[in-house]
Amino acid sequence: MADSPKASPAPQRPLEGRRLLLCVGGGIAAYKALELVRRLRDAGALVQVAMTAGAQQFVTPLSFQALSGQPTRTTLWDSAAEQAMGHIELARWADRIVVAPGTADLLARLAQGHADDLVSTLCLASTAPLTVCPAMNHRMWLHPATQANIALLRDRGAQVVGPVDGPLAEGESGPGRLAEPGDIVAALVAVERGEAGSSTSPSPAPELAGLRVLISAGPTYEDIDPVRYVGNRSSGKMGYALAAAAARLGASVVLVSGPVHLATPAGVERIDVRSAAQMRQAVLGALPADIYIGAAAVSDYTPRQVAPQKLKKNADSQSLVVELVRTPDILAEVATQTQALKLVVGFAAETHDVEKYARGKLVDKRLDLVIANQVGQGTGGFESDDNAATAYWQDGEQVFPATSKIELAGQLLALIAQRLKA
Ligand code: PMT
Repeated sequence: MADSPKASPAPQRPLEGRRLLLCVGGGIAAYKALELVRRLRDAGALVQVAMTAGAQQFVTPLSFQALSGQPTRTTLWDSAAEQAMGHIELARWADRIVVAPGTADLLARLAQGHADDLVSTLCLASTAPLTVCPAMNHRMWLHPATQANIALLRDRGAQVVGPVDGPLAEGESGPGRLAEPGDIVAALVAVERGEAGSSTSPSPAPELAGLRVLISAGPTYEDIDPVRYVGNRSSGKMGYALAAAAARLGASVVLVSGPVHLATPAGVERIDVRSAAQMRQAVLGALPADIYIGAAAVSDYTPRQVAPQKLKKNADSQSLVVELVRTPDILAEVATQTQALKLVVGFAAETHDVEKYARGKLVDKRLDLVIANQVGQGTGGFESDDNAATAYWQDGEQVFPATSKIELAGQLLALIAQRLKA
């Protein structure tokens, strides 16, 4: 009886004999290129390494030499190295050039065709296909100049691997991390097998591209007189992190902000307000939007009258009565607008019975989603850099354990993008 056909197992060394020239750029992710050399050699590739001057500030050429088993090339003007294998020969030797990490500057120089150091000269002098693995600060990555440079490299046939979304060296978070060495090797194997297109990226396509997202953040201050106000402890961190995350996902973001001490996230349009009445006016004025996220801690009450002059202590009385009246509910009002709005998201800051009150708001204010956070327990919620939340919608919920507000914002935006499709 004939053997039944078996799928041939994946080769253990899928890059066997491939000659890869790894060009290392000057970014903190250069240290990950060491692991990349090891992984490439494990996959069977022959690896030679060239480093920019900047890369040598982060990792020594000797480390690459030890891992690649070949002398590391660092300059155009090394006569000994040129005698062994000139840079033009090295450019011809390569079956493929891999640039990792590709810094913003290095990508710009490759896009422009510079030849003012070893790495740019090798790339210009070689006809080998190019794989670039960008890594940089997320604002630099999202800058139109960098996006134009990477588009140009892609148009010329370069394979682009990453960057990936996540925490960055500067303590921020966003698309800018070097793809993991294992993922870079997998992308190289795929492109060598002709499985991947000339340009691949593990970064998700911007999920909110083309959408307008309106976000409120921070506290409101309700003036009692020219020197006093009724306010709350909101720092704006949660709302600002959401605005940054929405911008990263490609949305056009308008942030209506109460008084806070935070920088405007990149690519976000910010409108500053002070009181609940001003916030209402700014929010309604910024409509239509596709998504509204009410992360602001809007004061529920405001003094019936603002005293035109500072209230003086009354020698005859031990108390002062300030009459407060309800502020308009901005979130509930937005939820009644039907023009363009696809999703209305409210926050609930609760000290107890979180689910009961959160679900109550979902129904009473006719929201699509409520993000509830427990406050008043010392950690998370107001002011803190961290937060934990539970999202509630009509027939579901999702728990988000404590993490940084920056991280949480990314997770909440992923849920929001998912609920949009539901
Ligand atoms: O700013 P941080 O220091 O980072 O803290 C973040 C936060 C705790 C303020 C935030 O995560 C949060 O929970 N924001 C909502 C706080 C709040 O006011 O919750 P609430 O339960 O009182 O209001 C419910 C919702 O109605 C909120 O979306 C609020 O924006 C909205 N609202 C409330 C009153 C009002 N007059 N108009 C409104 O739109």
